[in-house]
Amino acid sequence: MTSQFSSLDDPARSEYNDEAFIAALHATDSPPSTQEVADRVGCAYSTAWRRLSQLHDAGSVNSKNGTYPITWTPGKYIPSVPTSDLTPNWRSAPKRWGHSLHTLSPYVGGFPPALANYFIRRFTDAGDVVYDPFAGGGTTPLEAILEDRVAWASDAFEYATILTQAKCNPFTTSAFKSYLNTKLEEAESVDNTDFRLIADDSWLNESDLLVFFSEYTLDQLLCLREVLKDDTSQEAIYLKAILCGVLHGPSEMFLSLSTRDTFSGSIDYVKEYADEHDLDRPERDIKQSAERKQELVARDLDSFPTNPKACVRQADATDLDFPNDSVDLILTSPPYMRVLDYSWNNWLRLWWLGVDRETERDSLTLTSHEERYRKFVRRTLRELERILADDGYAVIVVGDVRKNLTNRIEYINTAYLFAEEALKHTDLIPRQIIDDEYDLEHRNFARANQLKYDYSRDQKEEKAMSKLDRCLILSPHKEQLPEATDLSVPWTDN
Ligand SMILES: C[S@@+](CC[C@H](N)C(=O)[O-])C[C@H]1O[C@@H](n2cnc3c(N)ncnc32)[C@H](O)[C@@H]1O
Repeated sequence: MTSQFSSLDDPARSEYNDEAFIAALHATDSPPSTQEVADRVGCAYSTAWRRLSQLHDAGSVNSKNGTYPITWTPGKYIPSVPTSDLTPNWRSAPKRWGHSLHTLSPYVGGFPPALANYFIRRFTDAGDVVYDPFAGGGTTPLEAILEDRVAWASDAFEYATILTQAKCNPFTTSAFKSYLNTKLEEAESVDNTDFRLIADDSWLNESDLLVFFSEYTLDQLLCLREVLKDDTSQEAIYLKAILCGVLHGPSEMFLSLSTRDTFSGSIDYVKEYADEHDLDRPERDIKQSAERKQELVARDLDSFPTNPKACVRQADATDLDFPNDSVDLILTSPPYMRVLDYSWNNWLRLWWLGVDRETERDSLTLTSHEERYRKFVRRTLRELERILADDGYAVIVVGDVRKNLTNRIEYINTAYLFAEEALKHTDLIPRQIIDDEYDLEHRNFARANQLKYDYSRDQKEEKAMSKLDRCLILSPHKEQLPEATDLSVPWTDN
C-alpha cells in the first residue's frame, strides 16, 4: 500500500513523513500493530518500528506494552506555533482595527477582522474564492471583499445571514436615507391600535418589550417591522440589519433604555438593572438612530469595491450546496460545543426580524455531548473537503472547551478534535496549529455566558472556556505552507 503522504515527504528528515505514521494510527478503529502501520504507510516493518519509537519518545504517539503485538495510539502530534512567533500577526494590529462596516451590528463570538485579513492575505490571491461556512457576523466575507477576493458565506442562523448579506451589499448614505424615509412613511399608515401587532409573537408580549422601549418607540418599531415583513430585497435586508445594530445598547444612538451589553439580556436581568440604575425608557425616533448608525457604518465606504463578488446563503454546514473543488480558502470559526447560545444572545434582534427564537435555536449546533459534536465535525469536514480545491487550505479557529468531570476538570482541545476527525474520516491533512492566547476581558462572550448561566464574576472565564483559541490549518495536499514572514498586512502597510 502506498502512503498518501509518501510523495510529499520532507527529504531532509526521512523518506516517510511523520504525518503518514500519525495518519495510520488514526485510520483504524482499534489501535494498530507495528506491522499494520507499516502496511498502511507502505514502508518496511523495521522502518515503522524505528519511526514509531522516535515519535513515542517525542510524546507524539503512545504504545500499549504488555500485549503482543505492541499496539500504537496517537498522542498530541501536530506542529504548533504561538501567534507571537509569527511576524507580522493579527495581534499586532491596533485595537478595533477594521473597516467601519464591521460595526454594523454586534455579533457575539466573532473573530477580529485582522485575523481574517491575515489568513486571506497569507493563503489567497486577488480573485480567489474565500468561503466561511459559519459566517456569523460576516467578518471573513467582508475582509475577503475588501481584499478583492470572491466572498462566499453561509450560516444556519438567520440573524447571521442577514448581517452578512448587509455587509456584503452596503448602501451609500444618501440611498439609505431616501429608502428609510419611504419605509417610515409607509409605516405611518399601519394600524397598530393597542399594540395589536404584538399578537403574532407567541413567545413575547407587550410588557416584555416595554421593559426595553418606550410606547412611542415601540409603536414605530412595530409598524416598520410590519412594513418590512417578508421583504427580502437587498434594501430591506440592509435596513433590518441597521436596525439590529441600534435596537439596544449603551448610548443615545440606541432605541432602548441604556443596556450595559450589546447582546440581549434576559427580561428579568434588564428590569433589575434598570431599577438599580434608575433608567428610563427614552422616546427615540427610528429615523435619527438609524441615520446615525448609517453614518458611522459608511465612514470607510470609499474603500469598498464598486462591484463586490459575494454569495451569501442560510445553510447548515453539514449540508452545503456549493460546488465541488471550488474554494481556495475556507476560513471559519465553528460553534465550539455549547460555549455560546447564539439564539439566546440575540433574542430581541430575532423578535425584530420576525424570527422564532426556538426554531432558530433548533437549527444551530449546540451540544455539549462530545460524541454528538464529533459527528457534527465529521459531517462538516466531509463537506469542506468536497468543496475545497485540490491546492486550497482550510483554517478552522476554535477554542478549548472546559469539561467539568466529577472529580477533575479537563479541557477539550477542540482544534485537535477537528484534526483527529479530519485524519480519520477525510483526506485533509492537519498541517499546523497556531495557538492564539487572548485577553478574556476583551471577549464579550465571557460576559454573555456569565449572565446566561449566572456565574459569579470570578468564575466567568473559568466556566466554559480557556483563554486560548487555536487556528488549525488543514489542506488536501502537502505543499509547503505559504511563508508567514514578511507578509504584507494593511496595519503596517505604508
Ligand atoms: C463562532 S461563530 C462564527 C463567528 C464568525 N467567525 C464571526 O466573526 O462573526 C459560529 C457560528 O456558527 C453558526 N452555526 C451553529 N451551528 C451551525 C450549523 N450547524 N451550520 C452552520 N452554522 C452554524 C452560528 O450561528 C454562529 O454564527
